[in-house]
Amino acid sequence: MPLFSWIARWLRPKPQPQPKPKPKPQSKELARRMAAIRAAAAAEPATPAPPTADMLRSAIRKGFNSTQPVTSSSHLHGRQEQLELLVEGVLDRGNHALIYGARGSGKTSLARVFANMADDRGFVVLYSACEPDQDFGALIRPYVDALAGAPVDWPADRPVNPRDVVEQIAPRARRRFILILDEFDRITDSAVQHDVARLMKMLSDAAMPVHIVAVGIAAGVDALIAGHASLRRHMSVIPISRIESQAVFDIIAKGAGSIGMGFTDASRETIAHLACGSPYHVRLFCALACFEVIKRKERKVDLPATLAGVARAVNDWALTNAEDAALFRKVIATNSPHWSMIETIARTAAAHGFITRHALADERGERILSQLRDALIIDAAEDRIAFQDSLAPQFMLAMLFAAQNSEKIDENIISMNDLHRPIAAE
Ligand SMILES: Nc1ncnc2c1ncn2[C@@H]1O[C@H](COP(=O)(O)OP(=O)(O)O)[C@@H](O)[C@H]1O
Ligand SMILES: [Mg+2]
Repeated sequence: MPLFSWIARWLRPKPQPQPKPKPKPQSKELARRMAAIRAAAAAEPATPAPPTADMLRSAIRKGFNSTQPVTSSSHLHGRQEQLELLVEGVLDRGNHALIYGARGSGKTSLARVFANMADDRGFVVLYSACEPDQDFGALIRPYVDALAGAPVDWPADRPVNPRDVVEQIAPRARRRFILILDEFDRITDSAVQHDVARLMKMLSDAAMPVHIVAVGIAAGVDALIAGHASLRRHMSVIPISRIESQAVFDIIAKGAGSIGMGFTDASRETIAHLACGSPYHVRLFCALACFEVIKRKERKVDLPATLAGVARAVNDWALTNAEDAALFRKVIATNSPHWSMIETIARTAAAHGFITRHALADERGERILSQLRDALIIDAAEDRIAFQDSLAPQFMLAMLFAAQNSEKIDENIISMNDLHRPIAAE
């Protein structure tokens, strides 16, 4: 813009503010209507836009996450007693602890919530998951380095042993430490298990403020204390089994609330019935039922959506364990007169982690167990029979449920059992 046009603008007189025109007098009727509209608008808050399907899916993944452990106590349902045992045993009495239970039963979740409580009480908590094939040194060195605040000098010419660890820790452990060894069952080398047990015993004997919490499935932790009877005195043993029905319903209610979806009574009951108190299965079945509801453009999780969700869960699991899935399908299809026995086997294994022949005390049970043997670990000496895949019993129960209710299940979910496929063809 040329300079003079700027000057011309400055010289131009500024517009004077004009008095506002007076509002035209309204008719009484119009004024009354306007007031009514204003009052209605003030009373009714603007309704938020309904969530999109993507927003709902992300809320479902969060509200019913079955792949990540719980870390806050407000989301840990039905484990109050176990938390108290851990707090009392480890934080108050200075014990070590063993947390054991099936996959998906909530061991890591319990350990993580406990870790937060210990942290609040001033403990330093070091958490790690064990790797298969780790020797004792590889397993324990990272904890000791972290505890020391810097890498420690270890003997270069021989393997690290429990005494080395105690010697390294002794001058450094001025605060109270908790070392959580999650997935301890992945350590199958008995020499490493033996060294960890010796380390626990030496830490206790020397009254050092370092407490070990080993977490794993039962077989792994049994191996840890086998041959170390004296360790039991220094150990809080916390079995993790099924959660009570009320806790299952609490998980469903909390997740449903966070997503803004409701579950019908029938779907809540069905999920609780099939999950047998396993928080993993509860969350998995709920999440897949909710996804099904979105697909159907509905907002209420009813029985058909639940059954379809459970069918998805079974099919997904079958992709990871095709052999067991095929075996269960065959055993269910060929034993219809004995479905109640199959249900007893699945429920007992899901609830306790194992079945005893003695408890079944039935020749029909024997026969079905022998048909399922390729999916089982049979410890004849202890009379303990467990599923190799500890997540499997609930899926077998879901397949059985589909077979029992096949007339109620619509076509698109029949694949749960693929009942129409001829068994003889396999
Ligand atoms: N007490 C519980 N309340 C609610 N959800 C739980 C509880 N325990 C476990 N979960 C959920 O179940 C799933 C499996 O839990 P996790 O702690 O990883 O089991 P584990 O370590 O025994 O395999 C996770 O998604 C977790 O969020
Ligand atoms: Mg775990």
